[in-house]
Amino acid sequence: MSVAVTPDNIMQLGLGFWASKTLMSAVEVGLFTELAKGAMPAEAIGERLDLHARSLRDFLDALVSLGLLERDAVGRYSNKPEADMFLDRAKPSYLGGMFEMANARLYTYWGSLTEALRTGRPQNEAKSGGNLFAELYAEPERLEGFLSAMTGLSLGAGRAIAEKFPWSDYKTFIDVGAAQGGVPVQIALAHPHLTGGNFDLPAVGPIFERYVAGHGLADRLRFYPGDFFNDKLPSADVLVMGHILHDWNLEEKRLLLKKAYDALPKGGALIVFEALIDDERRKNVFGLLMSLNMLIETPGGFDYTGADGAAWMREAGFSRTHVEHLVGPDSMVIGFK
Ligand SMILES: C[S@@+](CC[C@H](N)C(=O)[O-])C[C@H]1O[C@@H](n2cnc3c(N)ncnc32)[C@H](O)[C@@H]1O
Repeated sequence: MSVAVTPDNIMQLGLGFWASKTLMSAVEVGLFTELAKGAMPAEAIGERLDLHARSLRDFLDALVSLGLLERDAVGRYSNKPEADMFLDRAKPSYLGGMFEMANARLYTYWGSLTEALRTGRPQNEAKSGGNLFAELYAEPERLEGFLSAMTGLSLGAGRAIAEKFPWSDYKTFIDVGAAQGGVPVQIALAHPHLTGGNFDLPAVGPIFERYVAGHGLADRLRFYPGDFFNDKLPSADVLVMGHILHDWNLEEKRLLLKKAYDALPKGGALIVFEALIDDERRKNVFGLLMSLNMLIETPGGFDYTGADGAAWMREAGFSRTHVEHLVGPDSMVIGFK
């Protein structure tokens, strides 16, 4: 029997930005945060969030159809459990920072994807030269937005790393480029015997320290200011690099792995995690699109497979490597010294 060929998938993909932008705008206006306080009819939502009456019902019902909101028999809207857990700004499980950043920056920059594909050049604040991080960090609001977006991106992976890595064999760890600290906080919360910190650019320090203090971990996690290209990495039993290598070209990736190897004691381990592309480069849609995002964001960055990461680690000197899935699109490569 022949399978009917339909355009459904193509239509969903081609206009996928409609749904994506509807979610981003809902996060931007604080819809899920407001509804986390209790169910509300459309008119009250419109008033509270300053939304025009014309498309209010369409906006809310679109979110119902997208599985993010519920509407009860008397027309009151409330969050579905996922939206309540991950999109309410008042909860520590909030992931919306990623969508706030995507809404404020990536959504526009991805409009120039074709130009990026033709020129191989970034399309963001660093389009006319310079370094993404220098550009982002020059303005406090953008800095804060980017760092909290990283927590949204990596919280799930952080929890999985806390669970899957044999932390009881180690005492200290430093997350290199931990941004706000989403991952080290998850690791430290799950393993009270560990102490460690975040080695990152100096501007990140106050934001990391505030986040860590907010989780009651200031006595176990400290900030190590530095630049991983100009300074030696601090030493610890375990070093972590999340979404670091994909920001840089191959030569820079190799340099960072070598620096991590040099900073580790014998018996130490390096955990590299990101949306590692499957070795066949066919399945991990998020990882492959993330690599295009690196085209938009950086002069030479790209994502890579677990096999690539493990091979570069062995070239850097690691005696044993191991690739393990974490959660969703994310996996880790561990190198043992
Ligand atoms: C893409 S973010 C990843 C954040 C976090 N590891 C995660 O996975 O969510 C890259 C991080 O590297 C840091 N970084 C960029 N350049 C750096 C440098 N030269 N030295 C130290 N840290 C740097 C940034 O400040 C940022 O925290």
